[in-house]
Amino acid sequence: MFRSKIGGIGHYVPEWAVTNDDLSKVMDTSDEWIQERTGIQERRYAKKHTETSATMGAKAAEIAIERAGITKEDVDFIIFATLSPDYYFPGCGVLVQRELGITKTEIGALDIRNQCSGFIYGLSIADQFVKTGMYKNILLIGAEMHSMGLDFSTTGRNVTVIFGDGAGAVVIQPTEDENQGILTTKLHSDGTYAEKLAMINPGAHGGYHFDKMGLDMDFGYDESIKYGEIFLTQKMLDEGQYYPNMEGKFVFKLAVQKFPEVIGEALETAGLKTSDIDMMVPHQANLRISQFVQKRLGLRDDQVWNNIQKYGNTTAASVPIALCEAWESGAVKDGDLVCLAAFGSGFTWGSALIRW
Ligand code: ACO
Repeated sequence: MFRSKIGGIGHYVPEWAVTNDDLSKVMDTSDEWIQERTGIQERRYAKKHTETSATMGAKAAEIAIERAGITKEDVDFIIFATLSPDYYFPGCGVLVQRELGITKTEIGALDIRNQCSGFIYGLSIADQFVKTGMYKNILLIGAEMHSMGLDFSTTGRNVTVIFGDGAGAVVIQPTEDENQGILTTKLHSDGTYAEKLAMINPGAHGGYHFDKMGLDMDFGYDESIKYGEIFLTQKMLDEGQYYPNMEGKFVFKLAVQKFPEVIGEALETAGLKTSDIDMMVPHQANLRISQFVQKRLGLRDDQVWNNIQKYGNTTAASVPIALCEAWESGAVKDGDLVCLAAFGSGFTWGSALIRW
């Protein structure tokens, strides 16, 4: 049986940097508030009408493919993780295939919807496919264009200031080197609090989950609503109910509990200790969350990669962008034990240990 490794990695962030001061011109917020609570100084926004999650993903993928020493035609499976897809359906997997010009090979393309932990879920799926010998060059992409659907009024400030656009990609390949590759991945979820961090409209829910959970929100459903109108009601449009919502404090408390838990679980499976970690690349949710986890694990500053200051929270793209930057800067070297971890909407969370 093969082990799988990251054979190539790339990332892409759009050119347009939006500072906290820029945001304070359109909503009631401040650089001081944002930096103090999240560590974020600026984030990138994609060029509207030209860039999308799929196009940014394709740019990151081209770099990863070249660094993996293969051609686009060698890719034998695509996995795409995003919560900000170009279309409701079909997913970005086939769009990136078309963007890369590799439709002739008719390879499979899988879209996964696991928000902030989407990349870790994708890595685990790719790992299983490669280990079983089914595929040899899996292209895994995490990409987000949050800027297309955020509430830029003061009402949406608690969510909007956090998120940014970008993409990261890796090529997962087999390796027979026993001292290299993905050692283990751990995946978890708990749907109890699905609505605490969510974008619920448009959708097929028809208010069902809210009624069942005793949550209070009027979507404009009444006896006159017809089948074709359930997905997107006039009230949703009128009241801006199509933006993401988040109970920040609730998310924070769970995140700082689950990150160390799932990292510990992976270390135990691999027979390793926290002190064996050379570099931790956490999902860039919030600098305060990463610092809390770092402290809990007893890691030094140079053992944790943070770049949320520059890019904000890029959700499914954050782990591959950060990992790529860490590797490009020389902070991740051959033989290093790299720990990836993420927590986000669902809630879903996971971790991965990689011997680089
Ligand atoms: N600018 C200025 N003031 C703001 C802003 C803003 N952008 N957002 C909220 N406020 C105000 C609130 O209205 C509130 O005012 P009030 O006291 O007058 O009512 C006050 O600031 C405090 O608001 P809280 O929401 O209680 O602020 P909190 O200290 O919890 O910080 C934050 C908010 C940063 C979102 C924090 O809860 C957090 O980081 N949570 C984790 C969220 C996270 O990391 N999410 C991403 C992970 S999951 C994923 O990646 C999808």
